[in-house]
Amino acid sequence: MKRQHIVAGNWKMNKTFEEGRNIAQAIADGLPESDTIAILATPYIHLSAVSTVVQQKLNLKLAAQNCHQAKSGAFTGEISVDMLSSVGVEYVILGHSERREFFGENEELLAQKVDIALGNDLKPIYCCGEGLAIREAGNHLSHVANQITGGLFHLSPEDFSTVVVAYEPIWAIGTGVTASPEQAQEMHAFIRQLISDKYGEEISDATTILYGGSVKPANAKELFSQKDVDGGLVGGASLKADDFLAIIDSF
Ligand code: 13P
Repeated sequence: MKRQHIVAGNWKMNKTFEEGRNIAQAIADGLPESDTIAILATPYIHLSAVSTVVQQKLNLKLAAQNCHQAKSGAFTGEISVDMLSSVGVEYVILGHSERREFFGENEELLAQKVDIALGNDLKPIYCCGEGLAIREAGNHLSHVANQITGGLFHLSPEDFSTVVVAYEPIWAIGTGVTASPEQAQEMHAFIRQLISDKYGEEISDATTILYGGSVKPANAKELFSQKDVDGGLVGGASLKADDFLAIIDSF
């Protein structure tokens, strides 16, 4: 089974409206048509404008960085899946470590967000990953297993099949320290085995598992050449069109 290769850029809370539109256009202009899907996960304010840009390329897609778990209502400052879909968003990042750490998101809440996203035909990019203390204590595999199980394993096989998983070790995010290709491969193989145990080999083989954490043009090729690494979730390096395009080019 050939898995979908994906390189997703998570802009986090960066770029003014004008800057965002310019970088999105530069990426669209430079992106070769290929089997690799490039995803731009922009702040909400950019989504509508970047939506018209991503339509210029078949393999360029739009993501949000979060959504609310309710359909609509009195939730000041929040955004609903209907709103995201209405401007052409196809993917939504859920459970990023920054949301878990700074906004208290846990598996129980994330399971609800996953459900409402799937119910609205948005594909979740579900993040997991351990902090340094957990890794040093040797508990990284069980920690990630709990995150995956708690947020995703209530899904039907059909729903699970649309989920993208992103492994992002917190100690590698924005630090310049990257997981070694061996560390990434070990965790990705572990996650794939978990999925296989729950949903079977066919679904597990078809699941795209991204690595995130200081992915750069200089290290992307080696990371992406690992057997179970199907692409990247890129923060800092996605803010420069040339770097992001070079990372996509690593496949
Ligand atoms: P960096 O690529 O800046 O380390 O960020 C990774 C990340 O958190 C992507 O979601």
